[in-house]
Amino acid sequence: FGGGALAGLNILVSAGPTFEDIDPVRFIGNRSSGRMGFAVAQAAAQQGARVTLVAGPVSLCTPPGVAQRVDVRSAAQMHAAVLSGAAQADIYIAAAAVGDYRPREVSPRKLKKQAGADLSLQLSENPDILASLSAQATHPFLVGFAAETHDVAHYAQGKLKRKGLDMIAANQVGEGLGFETADNAINLYWEGGMLELPRAGKAELAHQLLACVAERYRAARG
Ligand code: PMT
Repeated sequence: FGGGALAGLNILVSAGPTFEDIDPVRFIGNRSSGRMGFAVAQAAAQQGARVTLVAGPVSLCTPPGVAQRVDVRSAAQMHAAVLSGAAQADIYIAAAAVGDYRPREVSPRKLKKQAGADLSLQLSENPDILASLSAQATHPFLVGFAAETHDVAHYAQGKLKRKGLDMIAANQVGEGLGFETADNAINLYWEGGMLELPRAGKAELAHQLLACVAERYRAARG
């Protein structure tokens, strides 16, 4: 461990989208680029933490100082990688946009177009990674993210409670913010408090978010 505000802490970060395969050439994904989570991982390493980064399918280089990177594709793979990393982690920061559903069946062969007919896909619900961690008797300090197009505060505070989180970072998506962009703006919520982090580059925001996480972590866990 180096010096810095997070020295001595093991921090697990998830970043990027998940891809849920339909057949060998198609998948269901989302627009997360991984930039927010990679910025958090880099900032945590700069502040002295030992960082493990679980990355969905993204085209980003591993940030300097990150101790371990685990690449995954699907929500099920991310679930397994996060559960395994969480056993050694003091703090888990979930910046990944995890697919809520996956195709019920993955076709081993390319699905052929049936001209003139609609096609329906049956989807099954994916397990919630954060909720399954918070249900464990011992677990890291849990920081979730919530990306919403509307009623951001309402939905984020709902997720804070429902998923049993210590803190949630709410970001409005659209208009050059959130997914794929260089900038973001975040409102942090925890039980009994909130902090507004106005629009800034993701690297700068990551440092501000971590300062608040470190403070809340020390208050909660000593
Ligand atoms: O990657 P970028 O392009 O930089 O974009 C960043 C971002 C917008 C993706 C990021 O800042 C962000 O908001 N990530 C969360 C996206 C989201 O909408 O999450 P959610 O509302 O589906 O889930 C809420 C929380 O539960 C998240 O912390 C998520 O990681 C977690 N989750 C969700 C589903 C699931 N099955 N398991 C989970 O743990």
